[in-house]
Amino acid sequence: MDIETIKTQIDSEIQNINSSQSLEEFRVKYLGRKGIIAQLTSTIPTLPQQERAAFGKQTNALKNKIVSLIDEKQRVITTEPIQSSAGLGDITLPGITQDLGRLHPITQVIDEICAIFNRMGFSVVEGPEIETEYNNFTGLNIPLEHPSRDVFDTFYLKLGHRSKKSTQHPTPNTQHLLLRSHTSPVQIRVMKSRKPPLAVVVPGRVYRPDAVDASHSFMFHQIEGFMVDENIRFSDLKGALELFAKAVFGKDIKMRFRPHFFPFTEPSAEVDISCFICKGKGCSVCGRKGWLEILGSGMIHPNVFKHVGYDSKKYTGFAFGLGIERIAMLKFGIDDIRLFFENDLRFLKQF
Ligand code: DAH
Repeated sequence: MDIETIKTQIDSEIQNINSSQSLEEFRVKYLGRKGIIAQLTSTIPTLPQQERAAFGKQTNALKNKIVSLIDEKQRVITTEPIQSSAGLGDITLPGITQDLGRLHPITQVIDEICAIFNRMGFSVVEGPEIETEYNNFTGLNIPLEHPSRDVFDTFYLKLGHRSKKSTQHPTPNTQHLLLRSHTSPVQIRVMKSRKPPLAVVVPGRVYRPDAVDASHSFMFHQIEGFMVDENIRFSDLKGALELFAKAVFGKDIKMRFRPHFFPFTEPSAEVDISCFICKGKGCSVCGRKGWLEILGSGMIHPNVFKHVGYDSKKYTGFAFGLGIERIAMLKFGIDDIRLFFENDLRFLKQF
């Protein structure tokens, strides 16, 4: 066989090789002890003297070519996917990634707000979702006839004691249990168990028998905050809330305090921020008002101090309460509160 024929034969054979096993067979066929190169080399002494050197050179070049073809093929075979005979599929494919969980947007907002108040020296306290009527209402100076005490506005846990005809309480019993309708009862718990000075924020769930719609849910989250010491003034409330609002909504927002009524604070105010979407000009988010209501606040009522045994001549304090869902909806541009509680990953993964 002449060298040129062997070359073309090699070129076509190497193309069809796709396993280490057939590559090894190829190597033995050409480079083995009894292989074609060895055979060619062994014919050299039989050739006429003048042809030997040239033939030797050609044979050597052929051998080098085969060696490099084998090397190259070896690389291709080892980097190509390995088909496992055990039926594992292609074990060189990337693995199936484990989805990492993340914090719920409500949890993220709670953490952010608590961190802001932490930096101002507030500590975080939690209270139970099942409360006494006393802590939820009476201790907070909310009178018996207040509409929020109505069975249509609070989930009572033991209705057996009440007249079925009346929605009011014929026999108010401050030990009756209910699902807390706000986080304010934790004020009573903390103040009863500690002495001033204190600065506390209380995140948590609250419950109200509201019909569910885009802006109402029977369960939502609030953060309560309060500070009590000697000489705490309304300006301390303003300062703390302004720092908070600017940290959450941006340094450029303005704030306004609107006089309001809450039984547990006097004076009381609702706090608005200038709409950060339209910068106060009026848009669909702020209902063309230019302002967004974000929380209720005030100076703690002396009657509340009386209920917890604080001397209201010595101590003053401020308190505020805000709805987390509302803050989260404004912050993230969410227009339906129900989205928070449907556990739809397509929604949750966006935060
Ligand atoms: N508890 C009130 C509510 O649920 C919110 C609130 C308003 C809390 C004024 C406060 C406050 O501490 O001072 O609507």
